[in-house]
Amino acid sequence: MVHNVAVIGAGRIGRIHAGNAKADPRIALRYIVDPVAHAAEELAAATGASVASVDDVLDDPSVTGVVVASSTGTHLEFSMAAIKAGKAVFCEKPLDLDLAKARSAASTLDAGDARLFLGFNRRFDHNFQRLRDRIRSGEMGPLETLHIISHDPSPPPIDYVRVSGGMFKDMTIHDFDMARWLLGEDPVEVYAAAAAIVDPAIGRAGDVDTAKTLLRTQSGKICVISNSRRSGYGYDQRIEAFCAKGLVRANNVLSSTVEAWSENGPRGDPLQNFFLDRYAGAYRAEMAHFADILDGAEPLIGYHDGIAALAIAEAAMESHLGSGVVRI
Ligand SMILES: NC(=O)c1ccc[n+]([C@@H]2O[C@H](COP(=O)([O-])OP(=O)(O)OC[C@H]3O[C@@H](n4cnc5c(N)ncnc54)[C@H](O)[C@@H]3O)[C@@H](O)[C@H]2O)c1
Repeated sequence: MVHNVAVIGAGRIGRIHAGNAKADPRIALRYIVDPVAHAAEELAAATGASVASVDDVLDDPSVTGVVVASSTGTHLEFSMAAIKAGKAVFCEKPLDLDLAKARSAASTLDAGDARLFLGFNRRFDHNFQRLRDRIRSGEMGPLETLHIISHDPSPPPIDYVRVSGGMFKDMTIHDFDMARWLLGEDPVEVYAAAAAIVDPAIGRAGDVDTAKTLLRTQSGKICVISNSRRSGYGYDQRIEAFCAKGLVRANNVLSSTVEAWSENGPRGDPLQNFFLDRYAGAYRAEMAHFADILDGAEPLIGYHDGIAALAIAEAAMESHLGSGVVRI
């Protein structure tokens, strides 16, 4: 069966999701919504969809799925409206900028018949899926500590920073979700040291661009997350899991496996540039999972995952602002 879907938000990630929706044989992309007319029109023209308003989408009973890929401050409102209209929702991270507000949406978003899929795309990356499978197989013994490295090549535009909710809710939230997914437990303690080292404009906007965050779970597992908004050498996405009998590690994905060896040593190809390249396959897999949901499957990532990651992000912010170790 082919499902009619709308994409709200025609920015960087909206364009990716619209392209993947168009390419998925189980999805017919009907509408693009964005108040920036040229953004909506260009994406509609590129995908064969029509430009519409949110109300048009919600009022059209033939639309059964809505992708919320607009700015973060709109996620909760659009997800709630779409679920109340009986649509399945694929909502980008984070669920909202405010934990208390996100929690107050439980009666709608966590209702028995609500279908909310939250876009923590890294869970759909085949490298990290393999990493998790090998940790969980037990071949290396129990997991003891985890090291997640997540460094962006360069900072986002300052206009994006201002509406992003800050680095912990915008960027580290992916790593908080990866930590929960790989540790198999929620952290109970959070400590964060952060600063605006890379770009003073980020500091003036009230945000940070560099952080080390430490998580500790109830059973005693420890996770360190390293973030920077500027690596200078590409999109650095590595994870190391230390286990009782050894190490399981996911390395960066390079543009190719080719190396040139000289008297200066080996030189490989660059790291994949940024998230649009590094996670292209994961975004396609997310859209295929949304088609599964439209076919009746349960979302693999839902409301509770969005709340848990947001709670860690707020605790990290509190810790950075001077509260030391914060208990969740
Ligand atoms: N999962 C990922 O890898 C990933 C990557 C990038 C962004 N994101 C998330 O996706 C969201 C969008 O990020 P982006 O990088 O595409 O930002 P962006 O600024 O490029 O695009 C956001 C778009 O939303 C539109 N928009 C704003 N208010 C709207 C409204 N009321 N109705 C409809 N459209 C509206 C804007 O006009 C803009 O075109 C953010 O919440 C971000 O956290 C997720």
